[in-house]
Amino acid sequence: MPTVLFDCDTGIDDAITLLYLATLMRAGEAELIGVGTVHGNVDSRTGALNTLRVLELAGVEAGTKGVPVAVGASRPMAQDVHYAADWHGIDGLGDTGLPEPAGRPVTESAAAQIVRLARSRPGEVTLLATGPLTNLGAALLLDPELPSLVREVVVMGGAFDHPGNITTHAEANIWHDPEAADLVFAADWPVVLVPLDATHPTAVGDRWLDALAAHDSAAARFATRIMEFYVTAYTPTLKRRGAVIHDALAAMLTVDPGVGTYVERPVRVELRGELTRGTTVWDARSLPAEDHRRPVKIAVASDVTAFQDRLLAAIHSL
Ligand code: BDR
Ligand code: CA
Repeated sequence: MPTVLFDCDTGIDDAITLLYLATLMRAGEAELIGVGTVHGNVDSRTGALNTLRVLELAGVEAGTKGVPVAVGASRPMAQDVHYAADWHGIDGLGDTGLPEPAGRPVTESAAAQIVRLARSRPGEVTLLATGPLTNLGAALLLDPELPSLVREVVVMGGAFDHPGNITTHAEANIWHDPEAADLVFAADWPVVLVPLDATHPTAVGDRWLDALAAHDSAAARFATRIMEFYVTAYTPTLKRRGAVIHDALAAMLTVDPGVGTYVERPVRVELRGELTRGTTVWDARSLPAEDHRRPVKIAVASDVTAFQDRLLAAIHSL
């Protein structure tokens, strides 16, 4: 059972992922030992409050008295901060105006929390990151031994043989902090990367959305409301009623890697390109590798039916 420290920018698909993680906890399929938030879809404090709201809705005690939720980096390492209100709403949860959570974020920073929890359980912790990688990059700078202490790092981010979703080539999580992302791919630890190439084909549509809306529980009603906003944002891109719940695929591959199909390649982030800054680059040539970075395990496809059915069943079970 993976011991998960979740780093996110909650965010609609991050919120669905929190519901899914809550069901994994309940089923004894994952242990959630903490959450850190980062700038991205919203500012990192709003992301932490949203995280508390969603965990509480899912019946998980969170904050200072439960699963610790730490506020992380408020800006990227080397560029201005940007948010994603068009995709996630000004409040990050489809402008649904949820009330204040009962729990409060802890005072420790998200990067310090990563280092402390990794050191407290050496070799056990899986970092699951579904936002920009500033907290992970900062944790690597805080503790150079971190790579040897962490079991695995699973990241939703990047685009290879798929167009970008924030610029022509770049995916949002990587583009929001390219320097931090490159630190993560350069470190000597096992990284699983879940890019748009894998997430886009999992886009849910009528069948999934209608089944979600038909279920009468607080979690399903909440998920339906936030998905309505997300679907409106996604429809011009997908040209049908649907949306891509990127972050939940990364969570599912954390507990069940068999749902994905992978290739292994060193990954770098373009840091200087005028049109391509923030793009993930792999070397796909069949030559002896010139890049001596540790290869990243990159999901290039997944069992779409398994993903959609399991995610729906998980939300229905709450
Ligand atoms: C990623 O960007 C964010 O908007 C989503 O939450 C997801 O993590 C997809 O590119
Ligand atoms: Ca996210």
